Amino acid sequence: MCGIAGYIGDREAQDILLKSLSRLEYRGYDSAGLATIKGRSIQLVKKQGKLKILSADLKSDPIEGAIGIGHTRWATHGIPSDINAHPHLDCKGKLALVHNGIIENYLELKEKLQKEGHKFTSQTDTEVIAHLIEKFYSGDIVEAVRKALKKLRGSYAMAVIHKDEPAKLVGARCDSPLIVGVGQGENFLASDVPAVLDHTKDVIYLNNREIAVLTKDHVLVKDFEGRKINRKVSKINWDISQAEKAGYRHFMLKEIFEQSGVLNNILNERYKKGSISFEELKISDDEFKKFKRIAIVACGTAYHAGLTGKYILEDLVKIPCWVDVSSEFRYRNPLVDKETLMIVISQSGETADTLAALREAKRHGAKVLAICNVLGSSIARESYGVIYTHAGPEIAVASTKAYTAQLAVLYLLTLYLARLKKTVAASKLNALFKELKRVPALMEELLAEYKPDYNILAAYAQGFRKYYHEKHNKTFFLYLARNINYPNALEGALKLKEISYISAEGYPAGEMKHGPIALIDENPWVVCIAVKSRTYDKMVSNIQEIKARNGIVIAIATEGDKEILHHNINYLIEIPKVDELFSPPLVAVPLQLLAYYVAREFGYDIDQPRNLAKSVTVE
Ligand code: AGP
Repeated sequence: MCGIAGYIGDREAQDILLKSLSRLEYRGYDSAGLATIKGRSIQLVKKQGKLKILSADLKSDPIEGAIGIGHTRWATHGIPSDINAHPHLDCKGKLALVHNGIIENYLELKEKLQKEGHKFTSQTDTEVIAHLIEKFYSGDIVEAVRKALKKLRGSYAMAVIHKDEPAKLVGARCDSPLIVGVGQGENFLASDVPAVLDHTKDVIYLNNREIAVLTKDHVLVKDFEGRKINRKVSKINWDISQAEKAGYRHFMLKEIFEQSGVLNNILNERYKKGSISFEELKISDDEFKKFKRIAIVACGTAYHAGLTGKYILEDLVKIPCWVDVSSEFRYRNPLVDKETLMIVISQSGETADTLAALREAKRHGAKVLAICNVLGSSIARESYGVIYTHAGPEIAVASTKAYTAQLAVLYLLTLYLARLKKTVAASKLNALFKELKRVPALMEELLAEYKPDYNILAAYAQGFRKYYHEKHNKTFFLYLARNINYPNALEGALKLKEISYISAEGYPAGEMKHGPIALIDENPWVVCIAVKSRTYDKMVSNIQEIKARNGIVIAIATEGDKEILHHNINYLIEIPKVDELFSPPLVAVPLQLLAYYVAREFGYDIDQPRNLAKSVTVE
């Protein structure tokens, strides 16, 4: 997961590329570089470290040229360093290339090229592509790229320039995202839409195994056989300000506060006058009726949404539903077939493991339905049908609004199927729709409590930091819940660990007595999700067991619950009263905010946590 960008036009490329890369930094940020063509030479600058280091370098010593490529890296092969930063050159410095993905057969190609006399300077897999294109170059960069691609195995999105053809910018993709930004007298390449939105809303989503040849006035798309392809231009319906922070300190905080609006849009767009519509579902009612089981596959936060989906689908649609992480699903012989509805959930639509799982399921004859946030993403396009969450760009690495948007779509899909298969009485369905429609307003009410920058969760986070130091870091978090909120226990733990680097574990509360309770003494902070539900009394027993061992309890309870106060909890967080079935999106909010404030207390880079990237497009 790196960010690549390209520009060709009449303007100086340097600052355009730097701006594009700044919008792609969420994809990786351990090194960055640019290359342009000026006259008959390639100008190259690349630096280890964040983009701001490269920008400072270029401010004092700019490079020129109206055609160029840029890259911001998340290292896969070769440590983050100046030499391993992209762009990479061929032996003679005639061509420059940037790449996002992994070339699986790079070692054998590198050995062969070295035997043919090619000199390598870096430890990266990417540099192999530059030398391969050089090997095939005989005056036509597009042909040379096409021949080189045939030798590659793995995933890539790339941009290439050649000093002998300064009027051409070439892009190609296989399993990593790449789009073309179509401008007026200028054109762009990028890994993702935000990188081109300062200049155009007209984009072409390249399909797998396509090559784009850009001049300043024209875009040509070909397949790997060299055949011309007509690709339509899509209009982006959101603007760059939505990808900005809008006054919030971090993208993550902005995106947490966007959730009520996102849920409102999803429900209003899709549930009108009692009917539910999904614009690109493509699976007919008759097909839905034939499915004997549902498989849900995803990674990380999307997986937690899928786990929640299991509870609601089995409860209301009475269909067996199992959930798997993509990286496990794809390597076992999954029992999916044409009677299986496979739901893949992915915010980015580019997660390599989920894409591979999708393909595996299709090979087994399953029909795949994607729940995605990024329009035109690989997973969306390779699935049979797709339900877009329309949550808008999610820039922070820690997923928040995409998660609750995925839950909202799963609720709607569940109610759609329950109505279709008549597994729930019409009167109960109407009551459920009515309760679901309350959730955005309840979330708005809940978020309003945390609008002031300093609030109860910020205070709890401050208390935790003080405790953390008093205990000489000998503390960690446990998240406990039962039934439909158990996936939220996993999600709360993931949020905390990925942005505050503090150990955190989510657990089904009923499992405490089977081992984890041995962890309880005065050290861990235990978040107990104890909203009013059929398992409330059991959660209260868990709280009592923890308190009996001097544990520290943060309880998430339903507003107005007086009983919870009799159990000597240390901290209380309340969520509005709602049917247990629809409590997960509301419970998610304080879990996200608690993680945010703890990470802020420790001063970490919340939007770009260490070692992570927004879209894991490598396996
Ligand atoms: C969530 O906060 C993490 N950033 C990560 O677990 C993420 O959910 C996972 O990588 C899946 O990404 P996707 O939804 O884009 O497929």
